[in-house]
Amino acid sequence: MKALILSGGKGTRLRPLTYTGAKQLVPVANKPILWYGIEAIAAAGITEIGIIISPETGEEVKAKTGNGDRFGVQITYILQEQPKGLAHAVKIAQPFLGDSPFVMYLGDNLIQGDLRLFLEYFQKQDLDALTLLCPVANPSAFGVAEIDGEGRVLQLLEKPPVPPSNLALVGIYFFNHAIHSAISAIQPSARGELEITDAIQFLINQPKKVAARQLEGWWLDTGKKDDLLEANRIILDTCLDSTVLGEVDSSSQVIGRVEIGSRSQVINCTIRGPVIIGSDCHLENCFIGPYSSIANQVTLIDADLEHSVFLEGAKVVGIHQRIVDSLIGQRAQLKVAPQRPKAMRFLIGDDSQIELV
Ligand code: G1P
Repeated sequence: MKALILSGGKGTRLRPLTYTGAKQLVPVANKPILWYGIEAIAAAGITEIGIIISPETGEEVKAKTGNGDRFGVQITYILQEQPKGLAHAVKIAQPFLGDSPFVMYLGDNLIQGDLRLFLEYFQKQDLDALTLLCPVANPSAFGVAEIDGEGRVLQLLEKPPVPPSNLALVGIYFFNHAIHSAISAIQPSARGELEITDAIQFLINQPKKVAARQLEGWWLDTGKKDDLLEANRIILDTCLDSTVLGEVDSSSQVIGRVEIGSRSQVINCTIRGPVIIGSDCHLENCFIGPYSSIANQVTLIDADLEHSVFLEGAKVVGIHQRIVDSLIGQRAQLKVAPQRPKAMRFLIGDDSQIELV
């Protein structure tokens, strides 16, 4: 069994953050989204992982993630020159995959629970393909499955305007070698991509053994800001140690589960967990409320925030209105003068959003 993780794409829905970096490297609870997938695959006992990268962000993904040693796996990077679809990614990965069965994992998906159960089902039932499904409120934004009473897949449709059910295709699939000939047989879709959904439909039509299992826990597709904040909330709720390595002075109050990285300084702050703070941060006279993730080298002085994600090197000074539901990019700075400000001065990147509510 091998694994193929897709970490290409342009990340248009997470702009402006994705102008300068891969969407799969945006952190959730201070860890790149992509790494959760690698860890889940490693935990299922799969050690040979191919990662599809794009020319724009591939080097960054490689530099950050490495050869797999830190996860106990072996990573092979596979360059997809153009974003021609998920099935196209499988096609170019064929030399790596050979005839091996594999799990395909979209690098911006996060699920609760163990991949091993699905892997065992795929193997025991001797399936050609296994898809995972999750009920969603907006099925038209995803691939959608129509299933019969026994859970057999009748039909899969990619982003249908009139969805046949509310069951979205989760971005995690199990395949055997039969998928390769299905991919050779399909044509690009209206959006000009080779769709994995169409290749699975081809298997269903043959007919090959295609099954679907419904997820029991949560599933998050972290492509947009609110999904990312939700992923952050869930991960902080479920997987946070309370390790404090940095320094917290005696006038600060730390309540609940709070992780603070090495060399970070907390002076006269109230921190109410769950909160994660990276290393080399400086926090002074702040209130840090629940569900906040603060990356390394962040400076927060005279600031009040909750349910927000701050990326590496961000700086906030003098904002006592509470910052909520916010995603602040790397090295971004927000400053308010101590006396009542008379003007606002901005240098804001393309596609940024500022709401004073
Ligand atoms: C892709 C798949 C879609 C699936 C989704 C899950 O969509 O084409 O079937 O439901 O991933 O994240 P995309 O993210 O490429 O729009």
